Amino acid sequence: MNKYQVVTLFPNLIEEWKKVGIINQALKKNLLEISSINLRNYGIGEYKQVDDSPYGGGPGMVLMPEPLDNAIVENKAKKNVFLTPSGQQMNENLIEELLNYESLNFICGRYEGFDQRVLDIHADYEVSVGQSVVSGGEIPALYVLEALIRRIPNVLGNPESLVNETFVNNQKDFPVYTRPEVYKEHKVPDVLLSGNHKEIDNWKKNNLKDM
Ligand SMILES: C[S@@+](CC[C@H](N)C(=O)[O-])C[C@H]1O[C@@H](n2cnc3c(N)ncnc32)[C@H](O)[C@@H]1O
Repeated sequence: MNKYQVVTLFPNLIEEWKKVGIINQALKKNLLEISSINLRNYGIGEYKQVDDSPYGGGPGMVLMPEPLDNAIVENKAKKNVFLTPSGQQMNENLIEELLNYESLNFICGRYEGFDQRVLDIHADYEVSVGQSVVSGGEIPALYVLEALIRRIPNVLGNPESLVNETFVNNQKDFPVYTRPEVYKEHKVPDVLLSGNHKEIDNWKKNNLKDM
């Protein structure tokens, strides 16, 4: 069973996300395991300190190496994936590669990010989820996890959902419609109502657009 751990200062975010939708169902069916590791538990001293000001000056705080190092060493996984805006851009090829590992740690930054030495020691992957900066690695980690988990066998109700999806073969998925047949004068294409499966399949193929 695939096992994923998220190292974070905000484990509640991860735990709430686990309660909804496909992830929740997959967990109930024991198709995978997800746990959150509270970085604060590895903090230093009475105040469980995890961050400090940057050497050389500058704004903000930096996540100290020791708490992260200890959290990662104590919660070993096959690969450590650090979420960072300057990392390799996430895409479906990366997701396929990550699916090969039965266990992964996702390490979420905050503030000005990680002390570089933690990356030097532990990072197998540095992953960015887009060319904009958000305040923490949790949402990026969940984004990667959602992409990963829907590809684990039996997670999706119908595995065919994955076949024509956007990005597969560098194409955009065909448009989809449901009831009613006419909505605000916009009509469902006639062919989809025809019952002619050959023509419907052709229509779907012809409506997969290049990216
Ligand atoms: C405010 S950001 C730090 C940004 C850092 N000073 C920089 O410019 O690269 C805090 C944390 O959010 C996460 N983060 C922000 N944007 C991200 C993105 N596009 N992809 C992945 N992680 C991101 C990272 O874990 C990062 O350490």
